[in-house]
Amino acid sequence: MTGCVTDPNSPGLEYMPDMYRSPAVEAYVDYGMDPYYVTEEVASSQRNTQSARKPVAGTIPFVGANKAFGLPYAYPNTPEGYEAAGAGLLSPLTTTKAHIEAGMEIYTKMCSQCHGEEGKGDGALSRNGHIAGIPSYSDKLKDLPVGKMYHTLTYGKGLMGSHASQLSQKDRWLVIEYIKVLQQGGEMPEFDDAGNVVESAADGAMAMNN
Ligand code: HEC
Repeated sequence: MTGCVTDPNSPGLEYMPDMYRSPAVEAYVDYGMDPYYVTEEVASSQRNTQSARKPVAGTIPFVGANKAFGLPYAYPNTPEGYEAAGAGLLSPLTTTKAHIEAGMEIYTKMCSQCHGEEGKGDGALSRNGHIAGIPSYSDKLKDLPVGKMYHTLTYGKGLMGSHASQLSQKDRWLVIEYIKVLQQGGEMPEFDDAGNVVESAADGAMAMNN
């Protein structure tokens, strides 16, 4: 009743003005609600509270340290996708002693039962006849590009199942660092004191960077 007035230019009497004029909340700005309405106690507890919230669980980071390992895999599970990964997909990791050793640990636990300690295709499951025809890294797979390795680890190939649910994207790239060593017959590249590959070493080390 009191809100209605006869003057057509008058906004009338506002009551519950916070419904008309809600506090303008801006991202990344702390705001306190007006103590006039919410009491000083509530207002002071809200001051210095950033209005933007953390991203919800499961949000995929596409910037920052994890970006190379966060995005969904772009190549489809088709023969064309396999070839395209081989031609265009490179490892986000550099070849270092630490990466190779981390890859070796994964390899020993998850791959050697089929591929064999030295990657010759003669692991226990091959010797007892369960899985036949596992190719040797240093022979048939010597020139296999890392993109194809990653593709196979992600989707599986022939008798080798997908490892996408057992190995994170980073773990897949780490184990590939060790496969590259096995492609050289198990010969480690030469490292400097910081554990980086010495660039000037012979052809072997150059091939490690593919
Ligand atoms: C159950 C046995 C088995 C396990 C476990 C296994 N593999 Fe394989 N892997 C195979 C077989 C069989 C092939 C040959 C697939 C084909 O070409 O048909 C293969 C092929 C590959 C290739 C060549 C892929 C290509 O594109 O030609 C790579 C690289 C490889 N495995 C890496 C790994 C790594 C790394 C692991 C451990 C995370 C692993 N495999 C675990 C059986 C296995």
